[in-house]
Amino acid sequence: MKQTLLVAVLALLLTACGAQGNETRPDMGMNNDGMMLRHHAEIPAEYAGLKNPIPADDESLERGAALYTTNCASCHGDGGMGDGPAGSALVPAPAPVAHTSQMMADDYLFWRISEGGAPFATSMPAWKVLDEQSRWDIVNYMRALGAGTVHPANGMGGEAYDPAVQAAHQDEMLAKAVEQEVITQEEADTFRLAHDALEQYRNEHPEITNSGGNATEREAAILSTLVDEAIITQTQADIFQDIHERLGPSGLMP
Ligand code: HEC
Repeated sequence: MKQTLLVAVLALLLTACGAQGNETRPDMGMNNDGMMLRHHAEIPAEYAGLKNPIPADDESLERGAALYTTNCASCHGDGGMGDGPAGSALVPAPAPVAHTSQMMADDYLFWRISEGGAPFATSMPAWKVLDEQSRWDIVNYMRALGAGTVHPANGMGGEAYDPAVQAAHQDEMLAKAVEQEVITQEEADTFRLAHDALEQYRNEHPEITNSGGNATEREAAILSTLVDEAIITQTQADIFQDIHERLGPSGLMP
């Protein structure tokens, strides 16, 4: 009897450790999960490595605009800022897809659109009802919204995508983290610095988005390039990654 209990407890402990050790486990199961955890989740084999076969030409963007306005803007907003009227009460909130589509690869976006929020228990619907070309057209359109190469429709409400607003959101998040003593002010400043350097690198090298690997691996690769090029120091890169790891579970990271 005693032994059975011991075995059960041991099994439980082992499961807990295994779960913690696996950073890419997709289903953290709670509604207030950070977007960061989803961004760093392992992409299912069925989707991993998929590349967008549809060129982002005028026809695709036109199809994408119509599909996005009909199906997505109510939650994600006309400009893709995550501020559509139907999304305001959702936890977690709709992602600012104009922004995140700039840094997430084709396979991630196609997976998330196809399967929706089920793996993470969020209210993002699955869109397999749309054929594959339509889903890729929407990917093209979301990216164009974030790159500023299309004007948002004026159908559902929501701001046009604005990197300055996005940066202000992040400042707010960092200020909250400092206030709640999750990080120090100095760490917040370092985070900002490394984050801005990362963003700039991504803007200057858009091809990196589809260069393979998952978001975690790509980010680590860019950070080490930034260190090699003496744009940030190794210490700053380490602090950035450490803060990322601490902010994820705190629920502060959007
Ligand atoms: C009912 C509201 C709702 C609708 C409609 C909706 N979404 Fe979402 N979407 C969400 C929420 C909430 C999230 C954040 C949680 C998540 O990632 O699962 C999200 C997340 C996403 C993500 C993940 C972005 C990231 O950076 O992780 C993508 C991509 C996305 N939506 C695309 C779409 C597209 C394309 C459509 C239309 C075909 C659409 N969504 C329609 C609510 C919605």
